[in-house]
Amino acid sequence: MVNRRKFIHASAFGSLGILFSKIAAGNQVPFTIKGKPVVISTWDAGLEANKAAWEILHKGGRAVDAVEKGVMVTEASQNCCVGLGANPDRDGFVTLDACIMDEFSNCGGVAFLERIKHPVAVARRVMDKTPHVMLVGSGAQQFAIAEGFLLEEQKLSEQAQAAYEEWLKNSQYKPPVINIENLPVRQAGKQGHGPFAPHKLSNGEWNHDTIGMVAMDTHGNMGGSCTTSGAGFKMRGRIGDSPIIGAGLFVDNEVGACTATGQGEDVIRVAGSHSVVELMRQGLSPEVACKKVIERIVKIKKAKAKDIQVAFLALNKKGQAGAFALHPGFRYAIKSGDKETLVTSKSWFNE
Ligand code: GLY
Repeated sequence: MVNRRKFIHASAFGSLGILFSKIAAGNQVPFTIKGKPVVISTWDAGLEANKAAWEILHKGGRAVDAVEKGVMVTEASQNCCVGLGANPDRDGFVTLDACIMDEFSNCGGVAFLERIKHPVAVARRVMDKTPHVMLVGSGAQQFAIAEGFLLEEQKLSEQAQAAYEEWLKNSQYKPPVINIENLPVRQAGKQGHGPFAPHKLSNGEWNHDTIGMVAMDTHGNMGGSCTTSGAGFKMRGRIGDSPIIGAGLFVDNEVGACTATGQGEDVIRVAGSHSVVELMRQGLSPEVACKKVIERIVKIKKAKAKDIQVAFLALNKKGQAGAFALHPGFRYAIKSGDKETLVTSKSWFNE
């Protein structure tokens, strides 16, 4: 249970093999990274996802295999906000986006994919079996079926059906400005910052529409994955940052890896994850690199930065993890050795 776990309030870890000791509020939680491998992922759902990734990592498996299997746990959860159990678009259909990238800069993505349970696994097949990087819509679905993926029933989860019915009562849509009033699930969670604000689930966890995961395996190689249902009640055909290499995810095996969560449009306009990795290449720590790109978004959005949430989560080649968010509330899960925990990210605004 998440609420029994110890939370570390720090967004930068030291190198592998040293104690995680920068604990805010004087809350000293012993947490030693015992060395490679390490896996980090966004939001509370990352704890369970990391466990699945760990099954591969601790046996010496590749990071790319670990991050694929890891986020599949979240995709399969009907309780979460990723995968077919998530909120639909404004026409009532769940459409999914995902991507994956390995240590050789191989990458694959799918977007606007319907009725397929594991978009990240389809993205992996795009990477492994096609000369392309991205397939979308009916083409992605056709490819998935040809690869043996099951076409699932077109049916909303109980939670999504209830949220959709609530949304239909007003069903106002004013892109790109976020109108929080139309998002009853978020209202229930009493969090602002638009459709990508985290929201509280009935089991007490805080969760989100996206899970991004990056890992380093025992060989020091990196991989990353990202999967989402996108914004609840989005325009039909809308695609965010999550399936786009360089936006929702980027891996450079010489430098590190980054994934993003939050308002995809604003991650795309700064090539978010790629920008973070490039800043790490220049020597910035993961946290500072993430902060710099958040700062860029603040500069672009000006007063509108108050209305959205974006967060970046990065891991560098030394095994240092760091994150930075626009608004408070972003948490990420980290696992290394026999230790796992949730970490609360620092943020630009501190209301
Ligand atoms: N970051 C998820 C999305 O914008 O779709």
